[in-house]
Amino acid sequence: MIKYLKHLLVGFCLLIITMARADEGMWLPQLLAQLNEKQMKSMGMKISASDIYNINKGSLKDAIVSFGGFCTGEVISSKGLVLTNHHCGFDAIQNHSTLDNNYIRDGFWARNNGEEIPNKGLFVTFIVRIDDVSKKVLAGVNGSMSESERQSTIDKNIAALRKETKQENYQDNFVRAFFEGNQYFLFVTETYRDIRLVGAPPSSVGNFGKDSDNWMWPRHTGDFSMFRIYAGKDNKPAEYSADNIPYTPKKSLSISLDGVAENDFTMVFGFPGRTMQYLHSSAVDQTVRVNDPIKIAIRDKALAVIDAYMRKDETIKIQYASKYAGISNSWKKWQGEVLGLTKTDAVGKKKAYEATFQKRVNANPEWKNKYGSLLADIQSAYDELEPLGRSRDVFNEVFSKIELFTIIGQLNTLASAQGKNNYDATLKRVKERLEDLYKEYNAEVDEKLFAALMEMFYEDQQRGMIPETLADIVKKGDNDFSKIAKQVYDNTSLDNGEKTLAAVDKDTKELLENYRKDKATELYAALVTNYSDNVSKKLNEVQNRINQLQRTYMQAQMDVFKEKTFYPDANSTLRVTYGNVKGYNPRDAVKYDYYTYLDGIMEKYKPGDYEFDVPEKIRTLYKNKDFGQYGKNGKMPVCFIAMNHTTGGNSGSPALDAYGNLVGLNFDRAWEGTMSDINYDPSICRNIMVDIRYVLFIVDKYAGAGHLVKEMKLVHPKRK
Ligand code: ARG
Ligand code: GLU
Repeated sequence: MIKYLKHLLVGFCLLIITMARADEGMWLPQLLAQLNEKQMKSMGMKISASDIYNINKGSLKDAIVSFGGFCTGEVISSKGLVLTNHHCGFDAIQNHSTLDNNYIRDGFWARNNGEEIPNKGLFVTFIVRIDDVSKKVLAGVNGSMSESERQSTIDKNIAALRKETKQENYQDNFVRAFFEGNQYFLFVTETYRDIRLVGAPPSSVGNFGKDSDNWMWPRHTGDFSMFRIYAGKDNKPAEYSADNIPYTPKKSLSISLDGVAENDFTMVFGFPGRTMQYLHSSAVDQTVRVNDPIKIAIRDKALAVIDAYMRKDETIKIQYASKYAGISNSWKKWQGEVLGLTKTDAVGKKKAYEATFQKRVNANPEWKNKYGSLLADIQSAYDELEPLGRSRDVFNEVFSKIELFTIIGQLNTLASAQGKNNYDATLKRVKERLEDLYKEYNAEVDEKLFAALMEMFYEDQQRGMIPETLADIVKKGDNDFSKIAKQVYDNTSLDNGEKTLAAVDKDTKELLENYRKDKATELYAALVTNYSDNVSKKLNEVQNRINQLQRTYMQAQMDVFKEKTFYPDANSTLRVTYGNVKGYNPRDAVKYDYYTYLDGIMEKYKPGDYEFDVPEKIRTLYKNKDFGQYGKNGKMPVCFIAMNHTTGGNSGSPALDAYGNLVGLNFDRAWEGTMSDINYDPSICRNIMVDIRYVLFIVDKYAGAGHLVKEMKLVHPKRK
């Protein structure tokens, strides 16, 4: 009896461990009807899966675009108006900014189509349809193939498949691997390349709170900007032309002015970049114990150097603002990730899951044969990976922050193209890249970065091999890295932008001769060769093995946990995630509400501050409670949080209500829950959205661009 009870109890616990949780998952839109619709409806959704994805009639997916390949956007008017985040449109905003027309500081609003500004290189991509092509892609693949044989078979199959795919001549297609290469889907796409800037709030709204508030809740950022898709006269994709016309979409989102209440259903539709939900516990353990900490430590140093200069020099502040934001964005996220993984005992949970897996595998002869040693093999591969992965992170972090190395890397590319027929194209690219780089470069800051980061690098390499060139330099500099850095920078001219760019224009042969003789180039080459010989060769071999094991483990999990509905890791393809609006408890005795208001902006307001200044007009609107149709009960909603499972790339994704109306714009996650890329936990994982009413309040009441609101379809689903 006791034994029976014990079995029952174990069975029950297993069910809890393996049950798909309501809010976790980034689901494929074409599979919603099959896998999710029932649950979505039970959570409050009032539309059907075919309203979300349908290839025979306009559906919500036809209003969603991949914005520039790195963010998401959505069509919000019948004239091709697109909404995305301020930080997604920032490059465009920055490119058109001058000292006189500073759109970063003051914002920008086109008063008519004629004032909308084209953006070279910017594109948006619609997904026309998604087909399961696993059978065709995996045809001829078998278990006895090596990784490279397997890959070349797959590549051949994909190439043939892409050619034979039925599509219009203005459409394109690509194939992506899912579930670590156990499944493949084909995407037919339409890409529009004439995308014009329509409007952006000032940074004091669009990036309110800057790095201090980044990844944090409670949040008060109006993180949005607007663009318009232009098409040829036939409404089809066309290269930029003054004659192009605003695109008429198959579908544009209706906008709800009713907001959301706690527990309301929401879903987020977009292009999440990368997650790692099905790792072995040893991989998670390494992230927490080794990889995240070393990357954070290196960035601590880099940020301290840059920050000190930005504070005392206005030019450096402008030059390094975007670099600083980029370095600090991941730096802060990783800290949240470590915190969250530790707090929720992600490693312990994975171990429990693996124990169940092993038990089930052992109980089934076929599985035992196929998967019996899988976990042990993965564990030992990760043991091998640990020191290599650490060296890789140190190398990548240090090398990418010292821009003298980036410059040398560019000249390296140029040098290896010498005498080849792609030389002119390479020269053009390298020149552009160097021009961009030097515009935001200060040799003194770079020298300080070199000193701080190379010291870390050197100390770290003590564990392994130090190339002779580096050992020499360190010895000559008496182990004093300020002195060493000074010697390196005094003896190179590559840190001089004017000189180098002039040489690029004048005589690249001479430039390349000089670059080859440069001491810094010698150091660069020694470090790269050392890395390649002592780390990357072995690393690639182990990583290949891990990929193969992980692919088997993925299939094994799907075989062994039949009761669980699996979703594939994010891979920058279109996904739907859904969850309810909800606050959370970040730590003992603290409870976070799910909504913020303009009152909170005024609480954070610091006159003249770089991060927390508030434009005068907003202060006046606040004082007069002049919120138009966008306020609620005398208050102006700003941001809200929900349990949607999102990641980088979901920036700019629409948050939709139960009816599919736009209620918010996704732009961030709450710090305590950034570990959702590895281990989603419903108690603390929250995505952050700006309320669409705040967006419209800024457009209409603040910027006086009400003509844009007139293009949109506003609805009141809660007024029945
Ligand atoms: N954390 C958000 C996203 O990852 C927003 C980043 C932009 N904002 C900033 N202050 N850096 O990537
Ligand atoms: N800000 C992120 C982005 O640029 C979204 C936040 C997240 O990582 O969830 O995509």
